[in-house]
Amino acid sequence: MSTLSIDNVTLAFGGVKALSQVSFEITPGAIHGLIGPNGAGKTSLFNVVSGIYTPTSGSVRFDDHTISDLRLDQINRLGVARTFQNIMVFPELSLVANVMIGRQSRTYASVLQSILRTRHERSERQLAHQRALELLSYVGLDAKADELAANLPYGEQRQLDIARALATDPKILLLDEPAAGLNQQERLSLRKLILKLHDFGYTVVLIEHDIKLVMGLCSHIVVLEYGNKIADGTPEDIQTDERVIAAYLGTGLKNAEN
Ligand SMILES: Nc1ncnc2c1ncn2[C@@H]1O[C@H](COP(=O)(O)OP(=O)(O)OP(=O)(O)O)[C@@H](O)[C@H]1O
Ligand SMILES: [Mg+2]
Repeated sequence: MSTLSIDNVTLAFGGVKALSQVSFEITPGAIHGLIGPNGAGKTSLFNVVSGIYTPTSGSVRFDDHTISDLRLDQINRLGVARTFQNIMVFPELSLVANVMIGRQSRTYASVLQSILRTRHERSERQLAHQRALELLSYVGLDAKADELAANLPYGEQRQLDIARALATDPKILLLDEPAAGLNQQERLSLRKLILKLHDFGYTVVLIEHDIKLVMGLCSHIVVLEYGNKIADGTPEDIQTDERVIAAYLGTGLKNAEN
């Protein structure tokens, strides 16, 4: 199983330190929560791990590779995939096309190019199509494979976004606020899907503001505040941690106990 290690990572934007000497390890096969108030550095950490940003100092290791030196596509090929805080689906394409292009770089020109090119590469296209259908079935959207993504309710667009990330055959999935904007029913579906990913052996890192969801799903939780790691432990450790309670002014964590 693959191990992800964040080692002393600092990410500075001019005078602003989005991350300050953050270190922790992701346990293979576990569901990790990454929490913290707005602006704490959660998305910045995903941006560093997935290769969007190179850390100002420190490194990220994945298995035997120092991935903080690698490009986005190289890191993705090694087995790290992510979703974004804002849903990244192509509304004017079908669900199956959205998943098929999960492997491609995300410009519209390259999407069209890939669709045209694969017309001439029938077997490859058929395989990709088959795999996309399997992934849609996995997230429970196979019945809508040929519909336009634009017609999906918001919660199903989130599920599609996860299928798109799975198309790169990752070992570890970084989910940036997948429950944001979802209603209660959609949250339950998402929770089920994350548990299914876990059962299938994926390692999951979940950024989430819904503390109740995080406490119920994750076996390990890392807490960031102003770019610093302030806690790292089990849900029980986190709920009783003085610094975490102070960071949340007690409110969010109290809710989690109810
Ligand atoms: N590209 C950038 N340029 C300058 N500052 C940035 C950039 N990206 C992030 N920051 C700053 O880094 C800090 C951390 O931002 P980040 O988006 O990682 O927080 P977050 O924990 O994901 O917050 P939220 O819960 O609101 O999504 C913030 O102060 C933010 O303004
Ligand atoms: Mg964020």
